[in-house]
Amino acid sequence: MISRRDFTSAIGAGVLVAMGPKSTYAQADALLHRSIPSSGEKLPIVGVGTNRYGVGTDSQLRAPLKAALRKFHELGGTVIDTAPGYRTSENVLGDLTHELGIGDDLFIATKVDVQGRNASEQRMEQSFSKLNKSKMELMQVHNLFDWENNLALIKEWQQAGRIRYIGVTTSRERDYETVEKIMCNYDLDFIQINYSLANQRKSAERILPMATDRGMAVLVNRPFGGGGVFKKLSQASMPEWAAEFDANSWAQFLLKYVLSNPAVTCAIPGMTKERHVVDNLAAAAGRLPNEDMRRRQEAFFDGL
Ligand SMILES: NC(=O)c1ccc[n+]([C@@H]2O[C@H](COP(=O)([O-])OP(=O)(O)OC[C@H]3O[C@@H](n4cnc5c(N)ncnc54)[C@H](OP(=O)(O)O)[C@@H]3O)[C@@H](O)[C@H]2O)c1
Repeated sequence: MISRRDFTSAIGAGVLVAMGPKSTYAQADALLHRSIPSSGEKLPIVGVGTNRYGVGTDSQLRAPLKAALRKFHELGGTVIDTAPGYRTSENVLGDLTHELGIGDDLFIATKVDVQGRNASEQRMEQSFSKLNKSKMELMQVHNLFDWENNLALIKEWQQAGRIRYIGVTTSRERDYETVEKIMCNYDLDFIQINYSLANQRKSAERILPMATDRGMAVLVNRPFGGGGVFKKLSQASMPEWAAEFDANSWAQFLLKYVLSNPAVTCAIPGMTKERHVVDNLAAAAGRLPNEDMRRRQEAFFDGL
């Protein structure tokens, strides 16, 4: 197995592509993994969010996304979050992963977001078809939409063997109370919640500890708080102590903060560019900040 140092510098030099398919396994080994509590299955701790993948059928618009997905797979990434609500994202993903021949290696998380049993069943059938899946890894109730009925339905599909894991998602603080209620009363495999050093830290107060207590995996959405923060950070200098947890870019600085919370199973940054995939997957290797460093990161960010 290649060392972490070799992995990081190989990513930096862009040589991993040139190493050919055999190297995929060495790269995948170098990514940190965490277990899904309900099964013990391990996932790499950085995945990809695809709410900007709904570009339709234009091959020029699809080309950078295809390059990003190819690189994501080469570097050992598996978790892809999507939704029928992300315009044509599911179609684009289904087509591109088929063209790349990587569908069987992926852990696909999609969502249901309509009301009424028939409508929800149809919506999910369409997701399966667009994503070329006979069995979905994770089905989530999107933004708690009609959550009581949709949770009951996806549980049925799970019991029937069509879905491996079930969960709920939100990125809105006003939903947190309901999320807590659901977590107390239902045996979910996953929750998906927003959490970011960039002023979205509230989920760490109650929801993340509750996920640990209740044995639920956590996907973190909006780990960059949506991305606008990069403009602000570009005017600051990276503190020297960031080297102590192997952060070499602002994206890694932000992601490593999220990933160092032990409740987090996998962060799903939105990324449509190959260079962002390389940058972000490097955050899944190397050291993570300890408690002292996390406090320093918060003070640093709040002082900007
Ligand atoms: N309720 C829900 O279920 C819910 C809500 C919100 C989000 N989500 C999921 O979570 C995912 C992530 O959320 P998000 O995309 O809204 O926000 P985000 O991950 O916090 O930020 C994404 C932004 O960061 C940029 N970026 C990514 N990597 C970068 C890097 N290394 N350097 C500089 N900029 C970088 C992206 O640019 P490029 O696109 O140019 O690479 C994009 O503009 C979504 O895609 C979606 O799958 C779910």
